[in-house]
Amino acid sequence: MTKTILRALAGETLPTPPIWMMRQAGRYLPEYRATRAQAGDFLSLCYNPELAAEVTLQPIRRYGFDAAILFADILLLPQALGLDLWFVTGEGPRLSTIQTDADLAALKPVAAIHDTLGPVYETVKILSRELPSETTLIGFAGAPWTVATYMIAGRGTKDQGPAHALKAENRKLFEGILDVLTQGTIEYLTKQVEAGAEVVKIFDSWAGSLEGDDFRKYALEPARIITQEMKARFPGLPVIAFPRQAGENYIGFHAATGADCVAVDDSVTPEWAAEHVQVSGCVQGNLASSHMVTGGDALVRETQRVVKAFSKGPHIFNLGHGITPDADPENVQLMIDTVRSTVTA
Ligand code: CP3
Repeated sequence: MTKTILRALAGETLPTPPIWMMRQAGRYLPEYRATRAQAGDFLSLCYNPELAAEVTLQPIRRYGFDAAILFADILLLPQALGLDLWFVTGEGPRLSTIQTDADLAALKPVAAIHDTLGPVYETVKILSRELPSETTLIGFAGAPWTVATYMIAGRGTKDQGPAHALKAENRKLFEGILDVLTQGTIEYLTKQVEAGAEVVKIFDSWAGSLEGDDFRKYALEPARIITQEMKARFPGLPVIAFPRQAGENYIGFHAATGADCVAVDDSVTPEWAAEHVQVSGCVQGNLASSHMVTGGDALVRETQRVVKAFSKGPHIFNLGHGITPDADPENVQLMIDTVRSTVTA
């Protein structure tokens, strides 16, 4: 029996959508917090294959999600390219930055990333041995634009201002950074698939701040190159693209990139996404993650709404963005029970 997520990714409309959740291994779970404390800090957890596999498995054991996503981070790639990376508690990531041609030239060659990322591939190997046979293993990387915004600013920013400024002031350098990241992402994902990842997802969390021709050149085109190259290397490999907050730019994203599934965030309604995006292929999404904090009737109602809106085509149920640390684990169970009991026929 083919796994449900792979069936949806192949374009099948299922009576009940398969379900998983962005950031499903995370701080809202007491067992995650305990394992993280054992590892020391977040990055030590990412680079400890046994413990990273353990936290990946925790939400599978607790909830029986249809997919597990590798526990790692999109910022491990710039670290593997030679930037310093650390996390400030309560604030988020910090990186040494790229501001000049010399900074770009000082990065390690793409072929050297595996020296740093070896433990991540080991995590994938453990997971592909230990996951239940019905659970799909998803590997991932950040999209070049989103990863570049952190490398240029040295941290997360609200409006990605420093990256937009570099794009305006030194487009050659900006595009050079994106090219390195595009090639690095392909090599990183290749090793994940060789280690056992069955699907890859490309997270472009800040795609929504690119407009017009910039969206085409810096969100769509890198996603197309990565998707096409991964499919050339691994015929039949399903790819999920997540150009978050792309709005109208979600339309046509499947066809323009070759991605099997486009993940949509909750700034668009499920009815709109069904009409404009699901017509071209599988869609993943898009319950607002705030319902995992607030729960109750609204959670049930909105979960049913998402399931029904996408019931006429291939759909993978998910949140519109990652679950937050203040979420209640019982609300996650309520969402899953609601998805699995909603009758759409
Ligand atoms: O979805 C998953 O559970 C898989 C693992 C995963 C993590 N980060 C673990 C993580 C994935 C797929 C990511 C992606 C990621 N990382 C993105 C793109 C998706 C998105 O959320 O928009 C981005 C922008 C990052 C960069 C990053 N990592 C930030 C900005 C932060 C700090 C904010 C925060 O939530 O604390 C992280 C830390 C991070 N990555 C945590 C986890 C579980 C929290 C670390 C902790 O335990 O303190």
